[in-house]
Amino acid sequence: MISTDNVSLAFGGRKLFNDVNIKFTPGNCYGLIGANGAGKSTFVKILSGELEAQTGSVNITPGERLSVLKQDHFAYDEYPVLQTVMMGNDVLFKIMKEKDEIYAKEDFSDEDGIRASELEAEFAEMNGWEAESDAGIMLAGLKIGTEYHHKLMKDLTGPEKVKVLLAQALFGNPDILLLDEPIFYKQRYTLLL
Ligand SMILES: Nc1ncnc2c1ncn2[C@@H]1O[C@H](COP(=O)(O)OP(=O)(O)OP(=O)(O)O)[C@@H](O)[C@H]1O
Ligand SMILES: [Mg+2]
Repeated sequence: MISTDNVSLAFGGRKLFNDVNIKFTPGNCYGLIGANGAGKSTFVKILSGELEAQTGSVNITPGERLSVLKQDHFAYDEYPVLQTVMMGNDVLFKIMKEKDEIYAKEDFSDEDGIRASELEAEFAEMNGWEAESDAGIMLAGLKIGTEYHHKLMKDLTGPEKVKVLLAQALFGNPDILLLDEPIFYKQRYTLLL
């Protein structure tokens, strides 16, 4: 469950929300509608924690995972497709990155060795070795084949990018999924869900 308590936000004196109290309960699908510039994306950012409200708070049931499909389709342009999907699992991705950084070092100290073995254990515990094939399966389900795995996001077409970003959002196996402008995706790209 996700709820807000007296959330308010203004940009440069323009009030977007004032004391918003709302509760999104499990098992339901909610739509937020409003004119262009009304503040829908901003509200989604507040719910996901990307942006802090000026007053009030957002409460998410402890332990629930949250994923977001953002309106910004360019955020991952410099990353390869498979890696972009795996970034959907934040914790796992951080472990992978730290591991790679240690192994890339030329002067590998004893402490690096200890840290690497800790990371390997965490990685194994999270089924890290299956993560790459899981990401590939998810992409295949969205008709993005293996020939795309190592391409950079910026070299994909708009519809292909949205599919990868959707795979990223689903990859973290979220309890709460926030989709900014899903209708936009549907109209433009005929996405099969
Ligand atoms: N970081 C920011 N600083 C200042 N103003 C901002 C910022 N982000 C958004 N705004 C402004 O806040 C308002 C709400 O923006 P937002 O992107 O949330 O609207 P939206 O409802 O998602 O619009 P759209 O339908 O076009 O996606 C807009 O007037 C926008 O220009
Ligand atoms: Mg928006």
